[in-house]
Amino acid sequence: MAGDLHKPQALALVLMVIAEISLFFSIIANAELQRFHHPMKNNDLVSLLVIGDWGRNGNYNQSQVAAQMGKVGEELDIDFVISTGDNFYEDGLVGVHDNKFADSFTNIYTAKSLQKQWYSVLGNHDYRGDVVAQLSSVFRKIDNRWLCMRSFIVDTQIVEFFFVDTTPLVLKYWVQPEDHHYDWRDVAPRPQYVANLLKDLDAALKESTAEWKVVVGHHPIRSVSEHGDTEELLELLLPMLKANEVDLYLNGHDHCLEHISSIDSPIQYFTSGAGSKAWRGVRKQNADDLKFFYDGQGFMSMNFTKTDVKIVFYDVNGQSLYPWNMTKQLNTFM
Ligand SMILES: *[C@@H]1O[C@H](CO)[C@@H](O)[C@H](O)[C@H]1NC(C)=O
Ligand SMILES: *[C@@H]1O[C@H](CO)[C@@H](O)[C@H](O)[C@H]1NC(C)=O
Ligand SMILES: *[C@@H]1O[C@H](CO)[C@@H](O)[C@H](O)[C@H]1NC(C)=O
Repeated sequence: MAGDLHKPQALALVLMVIAEISLFFSIIANAELQRFHHPMKNNDLVSLLVIGDWGRNGNYNQSQVAAQMGKVGEELDIDFVISTGDNFYEDGLVGVHDNKFADSFTNIYTAKSLQKQWYSVLGNHDYRGDVVAQLSSVFRKIDNRWLCMRSFIVDTQIVEFFFVDTTPLVLKYWVQPEDHHYDWRDVAPRPQYVANLLKDLDAALKESTAEWKVVVGHHPIRSVSEHGDTEELLELLLPMLKANEVDLYLNGHDHCLEHISSIDSPIQYFTSGAGSKAWRGVRKQNADDLKFFYDGQGFMSMNFTKTDVKIVFYDVNGQSLYPWNMTKQLNTFM
């Protein structure tokens, strides 16, 4: 009969197919950032709050900011909250039984409107604790709003959020840790981690068909406050964001609210790192175009449609400090 295979040939073929399938899946696994689909509550609007640098047991106006987030969250009927990192001060969480999680998160952000998914990245202060614990599913079981990962994607269809673990990119935490210990488990060695992260991010950005591409990291690319620009991000991350037509970059780290416009690309930089301790009293020069700077506590809201984004900064009393919006031309060939 035609097509009859001898037994050894058939076995070889089967083995080849198995090898190819497993290679295919390992490539997929290596090349992809974990992706979460966050369905929109109605078909064309995504609303959220952005807060950073917050976990201080309610101190330094953290509780006041949380209460105002609750009110604005209600008005906007938010879909979720983004945390730009430095979730728990001073040194992250000590383990899966750390009460700081409840004292700085669960028992602080108690408003009804904030009982939504929180998508969090890690900040440098989180890296000074037990990072593996902070990332573990134990806290998701204690409070199911909590989702903290190193680098991942939240896909709402019209907006794709690319969360990037920026702390390992910053060289000084590795070479000059001073009195601090950084938890580099699952990260070291740095060059390989950074290379993989950038490769995965680039692939995900290239694949994206969302109307809006938003990258979220703890460290600023541009900032006029205490820490200023992050050199490693200017060098390693910014060219990739420009090449992939990213619209917005969101960060914390500097304990303030800022909007800076890039002078040589459409990228807009927003700092929301004012969740608790603020008032640093530092303002530096910046090579890009500073639009807004507030040195005190507060947070940010975002309201996206396919064609528009509206962003507002609020202070500790919930007063709108700075509304900003942008419209995008729709692709008319759809
Ligand atoms: C709390 O906010 C108020 C109003 O902005 C400010 O005057 C006060 O200094 C803040 N407290 C701290 C500890 O930052
Ligand atoms: C958010 O955008 C929608 C659609 O443009 C609009 O109806 C709504 O009023 C906006 N909300 C805020 C708080 O800007
Ligand atoms: C958008 O911003 C412009 C000023 O730049 C303002 O005139 C307009 O009212 C704003 N639109 C919305 C929907 O907030």
